[in-house]
Amino acid sequence: MECIQGTRKMTIDSQQLAALAAAYPYTWLDLGTGDGRFVQHMARTLPRTLLIGVDACRENLRERSRRSTPNTLFAIANALALPAELDGLVQRVSINFPWGSLLEALLEGDAHLLNGLRRVTRPTALLEIRLNGGALLQSELAAEEGAARVRQVLNRAGWRCGAPTYLAAQQLKDTPSSWAQRLAHGPHPWAISLRAVAIEIA
Ligand SMILES: C[S@@+](CC[C@H](N)C(=O)[O-])C[C@H]1O[C@@H](n2cnc3c(N)ncnc32)[C@H](O)[C@@H]1O
Repeated sequence: MECIQGTRKMTIDSQQLAALAAAYPYTWLDLGTGDGRFVQHMARTLPRTLLIGVDACRENLRERSRRSTPNTLFAIANALALPAELDGLVQRVSINFPWGSLLEALLEGDAHLLNGLRRVTRPTALLEIRLNGGALLQSELAAEEGAARVRQVLNRAGWRCGAPTYLAAQQLKDTPSSWAQRLAHGPHPWAISLRAVAIEIA
């Protein structure tokens, strides 16, 4: 798995990653992590959790990955082809304000994303997704419609997904991601949150 720390590139193999994860009771994967602000904040707040931020774009990650804590890893990868090194390691996944192919994959039930998520997560893992209406509009969907679609996709793919809940401006302000802050201070300060738990598939 290709990881970065500032301008430094490193390859971490399965054994190395398993050893790192074994040093922490909990592993949290943030998909489409953007500039890594969410990961950096959670890693500082939860020093006994290994935080892994994954994004397809390396440029935005350079700054925060340079100043990361030991319980942080930033990987460059496509969420639709999650690195095999992550297999079976993850207890929690967050996807905050996805756009582009990541959002499309959630809406369309893309098997590459969904199989990858099942592959990397442990049984009963938690998945939380925050969706913003603007991104859904680009897919020509009302926010509620988009959230209902993602919920249906998850429920069919081995997750038990609860009803969507609204995040108002204050909840966005309290969410430590750059995109949450941008939304909170923009003209449409709300989003929709979905939480799901992995269930055993018979
Ligand atoms: C709106 S930004 C949100 C960033 C961050 N989660 C936040 O809350 O600030 C969406 C991110 O999803 C990433 N993304 C979109 N499609 C992706 C894919 N297929 N694989 C990995 N990352 C992807 C983009 O590169 C971008 O950084």
